[in-house]
Amino acid sequence: MLDGTVRVQGTGPGALSTLAITTAREVFDLLREDLEAIERELGRDAISSVSTITEIAQYLREGGGKRIRPTLLLLAARALGYNQRGMIRLGAVVELVHTATLVHDDIIDAADTRRGRPSANTTWGNEKCVLAGDWLYMQAFHLALEERNFKILDLLIGLTQQMVEGELLQIEKLGRAIDESEYYELIYRKTACLFSVSMQLGACLADADPIQEDALAQYGRAVGLAFQIVDDVLDLTATEEVLGKPVASDLREGKTTLPVIHALAHGNDEDQRAIHWVLEDGGFLRSKPDQIQQILLRNGSVEYAMAEALRFANQARSALAVLEDSEFKRALLTLPDLVVARDH
Ligand code: IPE
Ligand code: IPE
Ligand code: MG
Ligand code: MG
Repeated sequence: MLDGTVRVQGTGPGALSTLAITTAREVFDLLREDLEAIERELGRDAISSVSTITEIAQYLREGGGKRIRPTLLLLAARALGYNQRGMIRLGAVVELVHTATLVHDDIIDAADTRRGRPSANTTWGNEKCVLAGDWLYMQAFHLALEERNFKILDLLIGLTQQMVEGELLQIEKLGRAIDESEYYELIYRKTACLFSVSMQLGACLADADPIQEDALAQYGRAVGLAFQIVDDVLDLTATEEVLGKPVASDLREGKTTLPVIHALAHGNDEDQRAIHWVLEDGGFLRSKPDQIQQILLRNGSVEYAMAEALRFANQARSALAVLEDSEFKRALLTLPDLVVARDH
């Protein structure tokens, strides 16, 4: 088993607690009722007195998504023995913040597909979608305010600023070959910070001590970094059907991600030129996507990035030593591997 425990066939209800959790389905089953409650909450939160906002918010909600941030928050809270309404509310809050960043991100990236469907900006246009994104942020804060807890607001405000700063820095670096430390700063801000805060919010609800809270924040950060590295790898290696968006969009948009950074450092002159052409042209004019894929594979760049993702997955697991054993802890132990093994 992934975490060293042995999987045995349970007999009574108590036996369940000795089982390892090894699949996404098992994690989902463990949280089924909580996640359903969060979906109901999200349905209520997508209603505005202005019908266009409601239409956009409902469209985004119906697009689905993996709900990984609420899942982290629920597991953090429950692993620390919390079991009240706050985790449903804050689970919806982190998903709303995520949704708001996606709407704005698709405008910034001029993306036309999201979750396998036309992105909201292609249907409603940029102007309305900027405002819908703003509205969603405020809806998230409105809901978070119901907890009447300044620390929660503090975490969410810091998070939102980090994410906005990250998107802005990314724009400034577009079309330029960045180095690994710039890459890690960007992916921390745009992805790992929200994973980390989701864990911290769960800890906060459960009144965790500072050591536990910090460990869970570290876990979220490491899972988030692994998640974004894998996302960046998938962008280069998966198919459009699986991804729900065109292949190699990142490079086309002028973003150098970890495999590309590796190939630029280790590839021959011709390899480097082919990559620089995409960045210079802002598209696949002189180089083709399959040529780039070949370069990345030949230089072991995809393997390198996946090994880095795995390193963060292991780092995440070791942060959990502060938690007592429970089925929720076991789900947290499994999640990093699910993140690394995902195909979309
Ligand atoms: C997409 O996040 C944006 C990134 C941080 C890569 P997800 O992959 O979690 O998106 P959904 O919510 O499942 O669609
Ligand atoms: C994701 O960024 C959006 C945020 C986390 C703010 P990207 O632009 O890299 O991700 P996708 O590929 O559009 O989901
Ligand atoms: Mg994007
Ligand atoms: Mg983007």
